[in-house]
Amino acid sequence: MCGIVGYVGAPGSGGALDVVVDGLARLEYRGYDSAGVALAGPGGLATRKKAGKLANLRALLEAAPLEPASTGIGHTRWATHGGPTDANAHPHLAGSGDDEVAVIHNGIIENFAALRAELEAKGVELASETDTEVAAHVLAGHVAAVRGEGLDGGEALAEALRRTCRRLEGAFTLLAVRSGDPSTVVGARRSSPLVVGLGEGETFLGSDVAAFIGRTRDALALGQDEVVTITAEGATITTFDGEPVEGSPFHVDWDVEAAEKGGYSSFMAKEIDEQPRAVADTLLGRSDAEGRLVLDEVRISTEELAAVDKVVVISCGTSSYAGQVAKYAVEHWCRIPVEVEYAHEFRYRDPVVDERTLVVSISQSGETMDTLMAVRHARELGARTVSICNTNGSTIPRESDAVLYTHAGPEIAVASTKAFLAQITACYLLGLYLGALRGTASPELVKEVLEDLHAMPAKVQEVLDGLERVREIARFMADSRSVLFLGRHVGYPVALEGALKLKELAYIHAEGFAAGELKHGPIALIDAGQPVFVVVPPPSSPHGLHGKVVSNIQEIRARGARTLVIAEEGDEGVVPFAEEVIRVPACPPLLMPLLTVVPLQVFAAELAAAKGLDVDQPRNLAKSVTVE
Ligand code: G6P
Repeated sequence: MCGIVGYVGAPGSGGALDVVVDGLARLEYRGYDSAGVALAGPGGLATRKKAGKLANLRALLEAAPLEPASTGIGHTRWATHGGPTDANAHPHLAGSGDDEVAVIHNGIIENFAALRAELEAKGVELASETDTEVAAHVLAGHVAAVRGEGLDGGEALAEALRRTCRRLEGAFTLLAVRSGDPSTVVGARRSSPLVVGLGEGETFLGSDVAAFIGRTRDALALGQDEVVTITAEGATITTFDGEPVEGSPFHVDWDVEAAEKGGYSSFMAKEIDEQPRAVADTLLGRSDAEGRLVLDEVRISTEELAAVDKVVVISCGTSSYAGQVAKYAVEHWCRIPVEVEYAHEFRYRDPVVDERTLVVSISQSGETMDTLMAVRHARELGARTVSICNTNGSTIPRESDAVLYTHAGPEIAVASTKAFLAQITACYLLGLYLGALRGTASPELVKEVLEDLHAMPAKVQEVLDGLERVREIARFMADSRSVLFLGRHVGYPVALEGALKLKELAYIHAEGFAAGELKHGPIALIDAGQPVFVVVPPPSSPHGLHGKVVSNIQEIRARGARTLVIAEEGDEGVVPFAEEVIRVPACPPLLMPLLTVVPLQVFAAELAAAKGLDVDQPRNLAKSVTVE
């Protein structure tokens, strides 16, 4: 949420603006309410900022060009304090002369009202409604003081930022440049993301590595409560108290092509197509020649894991539906209770969690603030924490006892698709691992399920290859006002995800229900012509589940619903009651979500495109939600 870029190139190279704007383009998925840049050149600071998407800023930069500079910062905003206006766009300026600073920010400064009152009492006039501008004025005050004490150059700005950060409450990433020092950018992070990119004679800061992946793949992760100073030569890091620290170096294992559309009409279309690969890569290297599981990244002792008596899965959005799928699989294989909860609810009740609880967080970005705070809370309560995450070096895995990375590659479209399939795959792996460890899943079962899992990428591909009819239905339904989704067992979270995708992408009212719950209320919504997707479990499902769902289809059909049924190939039982049947290949019931969700993703994306909407950047959303 909010994309941040900082750059220092060799003195005189003059290319900062292009680097910063390119970085913003790659981070725009983090927020697109406004965009802005500040350059620090020999003549001082110069800024341009504009409400709306980056395209508006680019147009402004064409109309009112900036003098070339080698140092700059840039921001793309997801509004929290103050509406999405030009005035509230970052950067925010404060101070004057050589002490003028430009500041950009991601997060929320919780004590901003008190700080604002303090500044106003001193006669400071604020030009925006943002908490960021307050931070800029606090920083400018410290810059003047620090320089008055004789410090200069990059060290002056870094010390002023440290003093500023010690006054701020909340979660934030801040970047700043100073007019009198055109060769330094400073940054600070508390709970919000910030990484350093180390190039040849140029250094970068970014909310994530996408900001600089076109120029370097060598990066440094920053810890909590740290301040970093970058110059063209590299980076120096201290704590907020000024203690020197080393960053954690890492190499980014994907390249710039992975973060580009590569001929697709949207990132989402590309990412949907990449799903077979995402599942295959998440499985890669995780089982040995005998089919046994290898999960090196789980660094909790086997004794501790064997002693676990409850699993709690915490996550948000699409990731939470992966967690709901995990519940069915983990309980089945491990015979251990699994609770699934939104991270933002977990933290604010009084959860029963102790050192025998395994708390599994699921997050594509590894930066979702609700999830991060829940993980911290779980650790305080003594729980062991495992992170299932797609983003190397991000905060949640760094703060967890163990991590199981998904290998979906960079996901740029705001609404999650390939990361979801990779998360479900990782949940299966973790469930099998725990089951094997606890003795509830036999070696034969583990081997069999691993074989089934390795067959899934080809089956996902088969689904993708057969979706032309789904696209036609989506275009035909572009005027729909409401669509319902039903599922049972692991089909229930799929129904929820199908509804979420449609809400997110097409702004259509959509609800997912457990098919069995329908008769307890939601069936009142059904009238003539109401479209209802039904995710049907395979006929091979235990406990007569398939027959129950077929009955549910009949119940809604009898009341006039248009039934759009997703069913396994060869399942003829659904045909008499289905207006449309969307086929998926046969697979074990527990693994079905990897297939059945795909038509629903494509339906939502196609329908949104038919309505002329921006599939990659839906209104009001941001990919990485770094505020609570
Ligand atoms: C946002 C995104 C969703 C995502 C959710 C959780 O709301 O728009 O697509 O599912 O955050 O994100 P995470 O990175 O924690 O998986």
